[in-house]
Amino acid sequence: MEVIIRPGAGDAGNLAARLMGRSLRDKPQIVFGLATGRTMARVYAILVEMHKTGGLDFSLASTFNLDEYVGLPPEDAQSYRHYMDAHLFGQVNIDLRNTCLPDGMAVDLNAECERYERLMADRGGIDFQLLGIGRSGHIGFNEPLSAMFSRTRVKALTPETVEQNAVQFGSRERVPRHAITMGVGTILDAKRCVLLATGLEKADIVAKAVEGPITSMVSASALQMHRRCTVIVDQDAASRLEHQEYYRWIFQNEPEWEPYR
Ligand code: GLP
Repeated sequence: MEVIIRPGAGDAGNLAARLMGRSLRDKPQIVFGLATGRTMARVYAILVEMHKTGGLDFSLASTFNLDEYVGLPPEDAQSYRHYMDAHLFGQVNIDLRNTCLPDGMAVDLNAECERYERLMADRGGIDFQLLGIGRSGHIGFNEPLSAMFSRTRVKALTPETVEQNAVQFGSRERVPRHAITMGVGTILDAKRCVLLATGLEKADIVAKAVEGPITSMVSASALQMHRRCTVIVDQDAASRLEHQEYYRWIFQNEPEWEPYR
């Protein structure tokens, strides 16, 4: 794992978008794993900009989202399908048939989870997985105690997550209690992982995930085991990390980061 600290949330989002843009240019048939949430809106806005002004071409790319609420149809403004269409898919030249999310309306949810795993495998797996982090330490909707080897399945949301996501729904009562999510094991299978976290409200959980012990109580800590995981944080989200100086040194000295400095 490596940690990159950027001064502001805009710089952090910009770096994540540039890494995605570079990966897409290197491999036009790339398979992206995508995340939703407020943090990612910034990344998608920059990718849209890169498409519109820089010709970034999504025509051969495929995407798999991490998760979707159970019981929300795609046209519901709070569904993740709706979010993705609005923030990215509707604004770039991606083939919508290559954009995949779990179907939270499926009659047989377990069969849907298995179908989603098969579909990812058929496309050769995820090349680049973009991740956010919830205050409970979740990646996707892998709430505390999610098994490190878990695969796509239905999870109940924690009260903390319901609270955190209530802002978008207008009230706690409207937040669905379940979601289909890729498992921690599914995420760890991605060839590259990039976790983006910004803001003071993420500082505690980022410190636990990055510098704390690997524990299923903090699903994001499993990323410490991944072969190629980059955690991008702004100064606020980095503020509880003990080894900030070391992480800054890496960014200044690792040749890989030279084009982004
Ligand atoms: C939701 C999503 C996560 C996301 C998290 C953080 O719970 N399932 O994938 O990382 O929100 O969202 P935000 O960026 O809004 O803090």
